[in-house]
Amino acid sequence: MYYPDDKVEEVLRSNNIVDVVGSYVHLQKKGANYFGLCPFHNEKTPSFSVSETKQIFYCFGCGAGGNAVTFLMKYENYSFQEALQSLADRAGIKLPEVNYSEEAKRREEKRQKLRAVNKETAVYYYKLLRSQKGRKGLRYLVDRNLDAPTMRDFGLGYADGSDSDLVKHLRSLGYPDDLILESGVAVFDEKRGLHDKFWNRVMFPIMDVRGQVIGFGGRVMGDAKPKYLNSPETEIFDKSRNLYGLHIAKRSRESYKILCEGYMDVISMHQAGFHEAVASLGTSFTEGQAALLKRYSKTVLLAYDNDNAGVRAALRSIGILKKAGIEGRVIDLSPCKDPDEFIKQNGSEAFRARIENAENSFFFELRMMGKEYSMDDPAQRTKFHHAIAEKLCGIEDEIERENYLKEAARRYYVDEGSLRRLTASYGRAGAAQKVWESGGETTGSRVEPSRSTAPAAFRDQRAERDEKLLITWLSDEPEIFDQISPYLRPEHFQEGLYRQAAEGCWKILSSGEGGNPASVIGMFQTGEEQEEAASLFSKRLKGLTGAREKEKALRDIVISIRKSAAEREKKLIESSGQEPSPEMLLKMLETKKDLQALQKIRFTLSDAPAEE
Ligand code: UTP
Ligand code: MN
Repeated sequence: MYYPDDKVEEVLRSNNIVDVVGSYVHLQKKGANYFGLCPFHNEKTPSFSVSETKQIFYCFGCGAGGNAVTFLMKYENYSFQEALQSLADRAGIKLPEVNYSEEAKRREEKRQKLRAVNKETAVYYYKLLRSQKGRKGLRYLVDRNLDAPTMRDFGLGYADGSDSDLVKHLRSLGYPDDLILESGVAVFDEKRGLHDKFWNRVMFPIMDVRGQVIGFGGRVMGDAKPKYLNSPETEIFDKSRNLYGLHIAKRSRESYKILCEGYMDVISMHQAGFHEAVASLGTSFTEGQAALLKRYSKTVLLAYDNDNAGVRAALRSIGILKKAGIEGRVIDLSPCKDPDEFIKQNGSEAFRARIENAENSFFFELRMMGKEYSMDDPAQRTKFHHAIAEKLCGIEDEIERENYLKEAARRYYVDEGSLRRLTASYGRAGAAQKVWESGGETTGSRVEPSRSTAPAAFRDQRAERDEKLLITWLSDEPEIFDQISPYLRPEHFQEGLYRQAAEGCWKILSSGEGGNPASVIGMFQTGEEQEEAASLFSKRLKGLTGAREKEKALRDIVISIRKSAAEREKKLIESSGQEPSPEMLLKMLETKKDLQALQKIRFTLSDAPAEE
């Protein structure tokens, strides 16, 4: 769904980004900009800036940036449309009706209804826990050391022994039976008809990343089986794409998240002050969940149960994290069974220490592998060293591989040179097979130690830098536009983001309505593009002070962009092997004339430094 540009602009104009961001982040004015602690990475000194004139934010620490829409997309995990809607609501603007297809519209309506039923159910259980009927549940949770604020934060509730009180309640609110059934909180059988799925359990509502209830886990208060009963998957509850606790953990400023196995682990970590904890949903960790986590942190600490199943699960998850490009580390919980127990027995300071000492996932893997060999036996030792070499061979980055190799050699008392040769031998096709036939599991594909990757598509870096500078300059001093526009057009920029940004700037600046070029960020709809564009508009021009110096710099930049454009044009003609067309010849002539003129012209610039 695309809203017309002017609608998007109207919404952006009607919301001051300083207020929007200010309602989440404490901002302080410094010079022309506002500064605060970045909500997107962990930092102690503010490098997160908001510019009121440009209506953008940019973090000099982590590079997050964009306009008010981008901010909400990142912070609240909204889609573009949701972020726009929320800003429109804030400013009292009505957005045009979304042009959904009939089917998409029906699906969205259904999803909304499913969310409503789940929410009503959560409210029902929540109240029940805090009522006379909920005493048993409350006692259970209190005995497990949970305090009232924690129970509130996680919306804990209670399903009592009744057979269909919830169903009756939902019916009384007007929800039809088929919807109640489909929402997963009730089940149907011939004998009893539609009745509650959960009874006699403490209830853990499961929320999506935006904090909306999408399902439940219910725990028995004793040893009965199954220990946890979970909602089935529904149209709003995809177990492989949600994580328990992420709606809270996403706001944590730590640079990592903690991934654990159980609902109770997440809750007790939260209560102990570790707001980074999340858990998968009664199923094993998936690639979808890794992708979700990666939006918030590039490092994940595993706090899995300290038993064989936990180790196996951790090894599996390490692979998934690695594939997603997330650094994994492993928290040692011994001698305790899980984080919940660890914190109960040792307190949060001890847990903090375990976080700080979390083990590099590669060495965790080696250590676990090592347990399968008896190191006193030379034959077993050899096999183990081969296994290490094989693992090392799987590291694609050469420097990384070398660093790991050195450390592995040191830790396991292997001669470095031998280990290096052995590792290389695993890189050669076939060799691996021969050396390592004797069982043990194969660890996926054997990769040839990497060679240099193919050269990236040609881009003129100097031109790129100058294009960037010019766009930045335009957003700082829009008044230069009229002087440079006779000599420069967006088509002179290299194709891609900068050209798009230039097109946007030219449109805004040539309209003469005094808009700020930085608002072109609104035209980019993916987060990555917006971030890159925001960085364009947040760079500072440094070091240029006098008007003369600035004038020369500006002229040099314009000339360089033009020359590089002409250069590309020439290459294109040459590579086509054809005679240049009359239009091309005309263009070349034009370039020549412009360049001559540019040598002589003097722009008039203000004396003030270009930087803020
Ligand atoms: P655990 O058995 O470790 O549960 O299972 P836990 O969270 O530590 O719970 P407590 O402390 O014993 O109360 C880990 C996770 O596996 C899923 C749940 O998501 C649970 O949190 N699970 C476990 C189920 O879905 N069903 C079960 O019967 C057991
Ligand atoms: Mn557990």
